Amino acid sequence: MDIWRIRGGRRLEGVCFVQGSKNASLPILAASILGKTESELQNVPQLRDIDAALRILRHLGCEAEQRDNEVTINAGSVTRSAIPRKLMQEMRSSVIFMGALLARCGEARLCPPGGCQLGRRPIDLHLDALRRLGAEIEEDGDEIVCRAHRLRGTVLALPFPSVGATENIMLAATAAKGETVIRGAAREPEIVALQSYLRKAGVDVRGAGTDTVVIGGRREVQRLTHRILADRIVASTVACAAAAVGGSVELRGVEPGHFSTVLHFLKQAGCDIMCKNRSVWLRSGGELKGVGEVRTEPYPGFPTDAQPVLMAALLRARGRSVITETIFENRFRQVPELRRLGADITLAGQSAEIWGVDSLHGTVLNATDLRGGAAMIVAGLAAEGQTLVCDEGHIRRGYESFDARLRALGADVCLDH
Ligand code: UD1
Repeated sequence: MDIWRIRGGRRLEGVCFVQGSKNASLPILAASILGKTESELQNVPQLRDIDAALRILRHLGCEAEQRDNEVTINAGSVTRSAIPRKLMQEMRSSVIFMGALLARCGEARLCPPGGCQLGRRPIDLHLDALRRLGAEIEEDGDEIVCRAHRLRGTVLALPFPSVGATENIMLAATAAKGETVIRGAAREPEIVALQSYLRKAGVDVRGAGTDTVVIGGRREVQRLTHRILADRIVASTVACAAAAVGGSVELRGVEPGHFSTVLHFLKQAGCDIMCKNRSVWLRSGGELKGVGEVRTEPYPGFPTDAQPVLMAALLRARGRSVITETIFENRFRQVPELRRLGADITLAGQSAEIWGVDSLHGTVLNATDLRGGAAMIVAGLAAEGQTLVCDEGHIRRGYESFDARLRALGADVCLDH
C-alpha cells in the first residue's frame, strides 16, 4: 500500500520537467513487434503499466529492457502469440497487443484486459473492426482467439472515435493486403505519435490527427530511434495543482496545444497562462472562480482523463462549476472522497455540480483509480492540514516520481510504500 502524506497550503514554484506519456508509450511498445526491428525508445516513463508491457514483450519472445527512461526492444523473434491472463489483467492497454500479434503471427490469444474500473469497458469496436479486416474471432468463455490467414484492407467506419480501437486497427492493418481506411478515427495526440513511430518502422500510414487514417503496407526496418512525447495529462495535473494552491510554475517539454482545453478552463478560473515553444507558464493567486460548464469529449475536446484533476482544482473556486462526463459511465468515483475534505459536489446522472467552499480540511482518503487518485493529491495540496491518500498502486500506474516532482516545486509531500 502506498501512503501519500500531504501537508497542504504550500504554493508551488519552479520548473516541472513533465514525464513522457504513458498512453503514447503503450501502443508504441505493442507496435514494436510488427517487424524484426530493434527499437530504441527515449523518454519512456518508469511506471507499472510500462513494466507490464515489457513483461508481455519478453513473454512473447522479444528482448525488452528499460534503463532509466530508455527502452530497447529487439523483436527479432516472436515465439508466442498468447498472452497469459495474469499479464493481460495488469492494464487496459494490453488489448493493443491483439492487433500487433495478429499482424506479426497471424494469431492472437488473450483474455479481456484489466485497467481502471471506470464502468463498462467493452472491446466490441476492436473486435468488429478486426473481423472486417478478415480476422476470425472466437470468444470462448474468458478467452479471445483471433486468427487471420490473410488480412484484407478495407474501409472501416468507427461509430465512436475509440482511441484503443483506432490503435488496434492501425497495427493489424499493417499486415493487410491493400489499403485500410479508418473513418471516424480517434484524433488524440497519441494516435499521431503512433503514426510517427509506425512511419519510422516502415509503415505507409497517413492521416493521424484527422478523422480519417489510411494504412498501407510495411517494409522491414532493422533499427529505429523514437522519442515519446510529453504526457499531457500529467502536465494538466501539475497545472491544476498549481492553480488550486497558488504559485508560479513552468511546465517544460510539453506541447501546449495538446492540453489547451485544460489551460482554457484554468485561464477562465483566473490563472495567468503563457505558452511558448515547448513550455507553459502558469501563475495563480490560489483564489479561483467557478468556470460554468465543462464537458468531456473525444480530442480535441476536454479530456476525460483530466476531468478529476480539474474538479479537484475547482473545489475552492468561488461560484459554480458543472462537469459533465460523456466518455466513461463511472468516472466520478473520486467524488465521495473529495467530499470528505469538505467539498460541495452534487452528482446528477453524468454531471457533477461543484460549489466552491472557503476551505478544505485534510483527512484520510482512498485512491479509487489512477486519475481519481491524482485528483485527491491535487485536493490535498489545496487543503488545510494533513491529507493521507491511501493507494493500492493506482497512481504509480501513470505518474513517475510524482512525489519528487511535487517536492521540487515546494510541495510538502512524501510517499511511503
Ligand atoms: C484511452 C486512454 C484512456 C482515456 C481514453 C479516452 C490509453 C492507454 N488509455 O483508453 O486513458 O481515458 O482513451 O480518452 O490510451 N468503447 C466501446 N467499445 C470499444 C471501445 C471503447 O464501447 O470497443 C467505449 C468505452 O467503453 C468508453 C469509450 O468508448 O466509454 C472510450 O474508450 P476508448 O477511446 O476506447 O478508450 P481507451 O482506448 O480504452
